[in-house]
Amino acid sequence: MSTHPQPNLAAEPIPQFDLSAQYATIGAEVRAAVEHVLSTQQFVLGREGAALEEEIAALCGIAHGVGVASGTDALLLALRACGVRAGDEVLLPTSTFVATGSAVSALGATPVFADVRPKTYNLDPSGLERRVTPRTRAVIAVHLYGLAADMDALVAFAKARRLPLIEDCAQAIGAVYKGRRVGSFGDAACLSFYPTKNLGAYGDAGMIVTKSEEIAARLRALRNHGQTAKYLSSEPGWNSRLDEIQAAILRVKLRHLAEWQRARRSHASEYTRLLVQVPGVMPPHEPEGCEHVYHQYTIRCERRDALQQHLATRKIGSTVYYPYPLHLQPLYAHLGHKLGDFPHAERAAREVLSLPMFPELRKNQIARAVEAISEFVKC
Ligand SMILES: Cc1ncc(COP(=O)(O)O)c(C=O)c1O
Repeated sequence: MSTHPQPNLAAEPIPQFDLSAQYATIGAEVRAAVEHVLSTQQFVLGREGAALEEEIAALCGIAHGVGVASGTDALLLALRACGVRAGDEVLLPTSTFVATGSAVSALGATPVFADVRPKTYNLDPSGLERRVTPRTRAVIAVHLYGLAADMDALVAFAKARRLPLIEDCAQAIGAVYKGRRVGSFGDAACLSFYPTKNLGAYGDAGMIVTKSEEIAARLRALRNHGQTAKYLSSEPGWNSRLDEIQAAILRVKLRHLAEWQRARRSHASEYTRLLVQVPGVMPPHEPEGCEHVYHQYTIRCERRDALQQHLATRKIGSTVYYPYPLHLQPLYAHLGHKLGDFPHAERAAREVLSLPMFPELRKNQIARAVEAISEFVKC
């Protein structure tokens, strides 16, 4: 019986992501931006937020941006602005972070799950038609791990059914599908600036981008107590405003985003170059015409849990995004799903593993991670 070689106990840990490495390069710029906000003493709905809205909308190639308090609020408010109400149904992939579903549930609507494609982990448009009912009111496409979903098919489906299409771009800012950035396909698109995202704040923050002036105006009211003028509210809203300090930090980071995305893509090609020689491990797939932004570099392997343990003994961080598809979450037990309902998503949940990925990752760290994976598959 073969055994793994002994781990090198003196080896440096390789984290799955490392925000300190980034702060070391931009700390001075960030502190100056925060200092500037402090000097203005304007903390909410000021110039930084408005400038960030314009910059993010421009990046997505779309007219309007509306800053909010988180990606989850972006989803919830976008659903509301697109007309989703209690009792409605919303189609969405079962392989996603729980927020995509819980934003629907928080409105009193019901998420209706669909399976994903085995190679991209994104919504399989061919499974949608049979899940439509007279109560279906919207579709959410999630661009998981930083890869655009099949937007041609999803836009065509939503159009044919006259359903609003909402993009969940939380993991995919800047990703390209056939020459266009994600966020520019749907009626509204939601971004998260959670700290670990490709563009992350130093706290919670989010944004909705939309081509519709009407949806943007509704969102601006909804995020601020439904106010359409000062102290004049036309519908129930709440407080989901983006604060100026986060906006200022995000504007600093935005200046570096293109360079960071290039670094992520280059790390991904290095991983894939090395991993194609490793049997039993499937590197991520980038379909023709797509530019993946590798929020995660996610492989699959049948013995995923043992592989993850093996990497841990080599001090190599890895994470499972996500171990439970939404239809098997206790939160959705009342919907009556069972194992076997969405086989591709269930298999992904058993087999996916995200490897270290952040712009400052070094080539020798990638080589060490792949070496540890090869060592594992040989035994
Ligand atoms: C796919 C997806 N949707 C929604 C969210 C929610 O974003 P936030 O954490 O900013 O509320 C996240 C991130 O956490 C996410 O990954």
